[in-house]
Amino acid sequence: MTLTATTPTATTGAQRAASRLATPWWREAVVYQVYIRSFADGDGDGTGDVTGLRARLPHLASLGVDAIWINPWYPSPLADSGYDVADYRAVEPLFGDLEQATAMIAEAHGLGMRVILDVVPNHLSDEHVWFQAALASAPGSPERARFIFRDGRGEAGELPPNDWTSHFGGPAWTRAVEAVGDDAHPAGQPGQWYLHLFNTKQPDVDWTSEDVRAEYDDVLRFWFDRGVDGFRIDVAHGLTKHADLPDTGEIANPHRPFGAGDHPFLDRDDVHEVYRRWRAIADSYDDPKVFVAEAWTGDPVRLGLYLRPDELHTAFNFDFLVSAWREPELRDVIDRTLAAHRAVGAPPTWVLSNHDVYREVSRYAREQDRPQLGGEEDFTGRPADLEVGLRRARAAALLMLALPGGAYVYQGAELGLPEVEDLPEESLQDPVWFQSGGQRRGRDGCRVPLPWSGAEAPFGFSERPDGAAPTGQPWLPQPASFAGLTVADQDGDPTSTLELYRSALSLRRSLEALGDGAMEWVDGGDGVLALTREPGFACWVNLSTQPVALPAGAEVLLASGPLDDGDGDRLLPTDTAVWLRR
Ligand code: NOJ
Repeated sequence: MTLTATTPTATTGAQRAASRLATPWWREAVVYQVYIRSFADGDGDGTGDVTGLRARLPHLASLGVDAIWINPWYPSPLADSGYDVADYRAVEPLFGDLEQATAMIAEAHGLGMRVILDVVPNHLSDEHVWFQAALASAPGSPERARFIFRDGRGEAGELPPNDWTSHFGGPAWTRAVEAVGDDAHPAGQPGQWYLHLFNTKQPDVDWTSEDVRAEYDDVLRFWFDRGVDGFRIDVAHGLTKHADLPDTGEIANPHRPFGAGDHPFLDRDDVHEVYRRWRAIADSYDDPKVFVAEAWTGDPVRLGLYLRPDELHTAFNFDFLVSAWREPELRDVIDRTLAAHRAVGAPPTWVLSNHDVYREVSRYAREQDRPQLGGEEDFTGRPADLEVGLRRARAAALLMLALPGGAYVYQGAELGLPEVEDLPEESLQDPVWFQSGGQRRGRDGCRVPLPWSGAEAPFGFSERPDGAAPTGQPWLPQPASFAGLTVADQDGDPTSTLELYRSALSLRRSLEALGDGAMEWVDGGDGVLALTREPGFACWVNLSTQPVALPAGAEVLLASGPLDDGDGDRLLPTDTAVWLRR
């Protein structure tokens, strides 16, 4: 047998509809991540844009997602692909304009999809008017107090104020040339240093400043008032810093939070005050707005703190993403996640990939002998079997969509795209590549523009409304191996990953058991994750090296790959998942 999808009965559909009405949408939403620069280019210049997104909204609605999350689309020098925001109340001209963006939001709503934007509250672009004003003002000025400017160490202040390093590599401090100056900092000379936990063009703002707090309140309202349903919060665990900016010298890996709440700049206890303030804003709307935190805490219990009833609604579960494709690890992550979320009454939010990590097909293509930390440095040079990777990624998708709570699907996962591992060096754009002096290739390999149709680049990515030929090349080169993986190739092919996602999302909507709620483990044998959800649903995933017999009498609703027919038993092959009606 191959893949099957059965239609739900009328009763199940009605029950499902009733329980859906009672459940806030965000507790079980499947959200599709639109990396706008690479999703669809509607004006032919080689960069994805709002026009391209608008044209593809019906495709996303037919995929069956409940919402879309759009990576930053604000005016930006694109030093970090838009996470360097120069103006929060407008749209980057390469991507479109405010009018188009507002129309897109209404159109998505018309198709039954919610819209989530990205807010970047840890830092701004150095081209933002605030930072320009800070550079043009004297040390100690109110303009500088919105950022973290400090005098350097050393006799002439020539050394950075502390030993912090940037997440992208190199020091987290850049020394400014004073424009105005004072006695201690002569004009025209290198003077104070400013903190940037990421790129030098991304100065951190100071969250002890009421100016900063009020500004972000207003940015949230600006977009909420234009119909946006929620925000994904960038580096949600990184906003507040220890008042003394102490050296991290004693900390083994300063870029991993350590769970005590007083790390110099990560997952600090005082960050929660910001989110209580934001929650009050979200709740002030008739149709309350929602948040999803990008909070790398490394600990489900610490993550749960962000999800207390008066804080954020949801947070990405990165522990699931980084887990090796092995039964004990996955079971443990799922158990710890469910327990930590249950303790605060929040739904888990499962995620397998995003624009910062190696695509799951290529992660799972490697030997699973260690956690999959996500950065390309964990994978480059290790042998890969992409066929195995795809089989596991498809099984992982069915597992993820069967778990209680919501899920995010990164664009291209629904096509089973692998990481593009051989981008020519001259095409790389990620600041990680430059800041690491070419030691780390960075994240461009998961950001390559999507293949929509055709047998060669640009694979339908760049299409002008008048049908004229594109004027630009895709901003990152697409590999020839995208041929056969396009949306057009996969559309209607029951064995394709696109149709697997469509069937799963459609079933997920119709089955009362799925979405928000609880699950139980059942014994499926060694190396098997077998879970049940009421009423009448089971998901089995075989991570062992042998086929396993499926429970007798269960009806197969959907399988991530072909099942074997044994001697009267239906067998679930290695690296395959199945949804069952019990
Ligand atoms: C997390 C974002 O996902 C990533 O792309 C970005 O580089 C950093 N935050 C800095 O904003």
